[in-house]
Amino acid sequence: MEKPTFYITTPIYYPSGNMHIGHTYTTVAADAMTRFKKMTGYDAYFLTGTDEHGQKIERKAQAAGKEPQLFVDEIVAATKELWKLMNIEYDDFIRTTDPRHVTAVQKIFRKFYEQGDIYKSQYEGQYCAECEAFWTPTQLKDGCCPDCGRPTELTREESYFFRMSKYQDWMIDYIQSHPDFIQPPSRANEMLNNFLRPGLQDLCVSRTSFKWGVPVDFDPKHVVYVWIDALSNYITALGYMSQDDSLMQKYWPADVHLVGKEIVRFHTIYWPIMLHALGLPLPKQVFGHGWLLFGNDKMSKSKGNVVYPGPIVERYGCDALRYYLMREMPFGADGNYTNEALLTRMNADLANDLGNLVSRTVAMIEKYCAGAVPAPGQPTGHEEALVARFEALPALVEKYMNELQFSLALAEIWKLVGDANRYIDLTQPWVLGRSEEGRGKLNTVLYHLAECVRAIAVHIGPTMPQTPQRIYQQLGLTDPALMTWQSVQKFGGLQPGILVKKGAPLFPRIDIPKELQSLADEAQAKAQEKTSAQEKAQPQAPAAEPDKAPEAQADPLITFEDFAKVKLVTAKVVACEKVEKTDKLLKETLELKNGERRTVVSGIAKYYTPEEMVGKTVVLVSNLAPRKMRGIVSEGMLLCASDEAGNLKLLTVEDCQAGGWEIG
Ligand code: MSP
Repeated sequence: MEKPTFYITTPIYYPSGNMHIGHTYTTVAADAMTRFKKMTGYDAYFLTGTDEHGQKIERKAQAAGKEPQLFVDEIVAATKELWKLMNIEYDDFIRTTDPRHVTAVQKIFRKFYEQGDIYKSQYEGQYCAECEAFWTPTQLKDGCCPDCGRPTELTREESYFFRMSKYQDWMIDYIQSHPDFIQPPSRANEMLNNFLRPGLQDLCVSRTSFKWGVPVDFDPKHVVYVWIDALSNYITALGYMSQDDSLMQKYWPADVHLVGKEIVRFHTIYWPIMLHALGLPLPKQVFGHGWLLFGNDKMSKSKGNVVYPGPIVERYGCDALRYYLMREMPFGADGNYTNEALLTRMNADLANDLGNLVSRTVAMIEKYCAGAVPAPGQPTGHEEALVARFEALPALVEKYMNELQFSLALAEIWKLVGDANRYIDLTQPWVLGRSEEGRGKLNTVLYHLAECVRAIAVHIGPTMPQTPQRIYQQLGLTDPALMTWQSVQKFGGLQPGILVKKGAPLFPRIDIPKELQSLADEAQAKAQEKTSAQEKAQPQAPAAEPDKAPEAQADPLITFEDFAKVKLVTAKVVACEKVEKTDKLLKETLELKNGERRTVVSGIAKYYTPEEMVGKTVVLVSNLAPRKMRGIVSEGMLLCASDEAGNLKLLTVEDCQAGGWEIG
């Protein structure tokens, strides 16, 4: 019998720099879902890729002094490496610069034009290059892009337009009559109320003011608007409009597009309208997940508050990070990333609950049964509840996974982990082991534990693909038939007699305060390294930002609006002391307007004593995101000048003795 199909996609990522754990989040979710579907008998197909065209990328490439193609090639290679590190197994990786995609997009655009969905006119309005989005004056927030808050640019050029307005009523009807189409449902209301009901405007779908895009083949001074280009990836990857569209026949419509909440609009308005105009069915669902925040703000390189997955995986392993991402927050909601929450989950769920269950089970089988899983003997009276939990689990996990509630699915699995641990406490195998009449019951307990451990290994596989094998090794399990979804539907599949073998702890316990300190120290050391490098490169910036990845090498010009974002104020140093265990840092207490006080840590201890600092009026970057250095939250940065050797001189304002004066 043919397997049912399941087609899942992530957004295709902008290759604009290092990918952070926010990007990793969507991709891990899609990978976990794909593995789950494959395990449960589906022919699942997982597509991801990169969105390489557009003004934003062209500008970044320019700033880096590289040809756009070379610029994106390098980043795409790093992106693929990251997916390897995260154990992401995609079925296809599409790049919008792939010839297969470019040709299909040209055909799609031409079809729209020939059937009258696209017409030529003049665009005049606001454009956000960062989000590659057009905005009407009423949609702007304080004159800026409502999505990213950056200033928009007035754009005036000849453009092709897509008659979105023609489809507005159809789109409203579709969303209303397909309540599962947009998930979670609150996002559907947002689309209806904020974008569709107020009136859908025709969309500008080509640009002439830059070149880095798919040329319109019948009017080559135009390139296709990056969102029309990007959204098409979901079908061009399947061979739509190519000579071989067998994948399209097999997998379209997609079962689910996973997208972050800020791009739900493109996926649930423009994309369905494009598909409808092409005469294609719509994806069954678009799920708009929440953001991973850092310090309660969306992680983004420009805000300097990013966390990269590489160092976390290197330190704790890929499965620990995958587990944390899928377990910590409900999929539709925002959640804050903290090292502390990650370490707490690792200790509680992975080391204590799961790790201990596996090691206790294996150790007891070694101790009491010479390492061979025993056949069960007399009941202890606690088996019924455990077996009931075991057999109810698959349906619950399947339900939550199908709803993309990864966190709830994992919580259910951990209920079995918890019950199995409690079963040990209730039956006290170490007491049963002391007497001959306890033997039968002991065998029952150990068999039940081994069987639960086997099932848990199967269940966690989609989220934590490396851990099941490590558990099977300790259980001595080699029969692939006992590692399947089918094999955990009913209790009792495990054959007695297999030989267990104790291994290293699955997840070693971490001393959290010590680990947090060591993470802070490392971040500090990195910051210091970067500070020195920056000081050599440019005359300023004593307190570097540890997480900021190097952007472009060249110094691009910035607009006045960019400059206006930096808030510089005068600040009076009212107290100052050395930071312990370092000879580089000083901690200053600054006074701003109306008695407001700030603490700032600066790398200037080699140049000023605390006594010299007190009383100076200095220049503070006051809207820099706070940063922890040596356990102290630094709330801004003091401006310095530096000579070629990197010696620093504070910028002071002699004529102004008060704090809080604005500079600029
Ligand atoms: N290129 C577009 C998508 C085109 S799809 C046809 C794009 N790219 S992106 O690289 O900016 O973002 C890709 C995905 O990563 C988006 O779904 C976005 O929401 C997600 N995330 C980026 N930062 C994130 C967090 N901090 N947290 C969770 N997801 C976030 O948009």
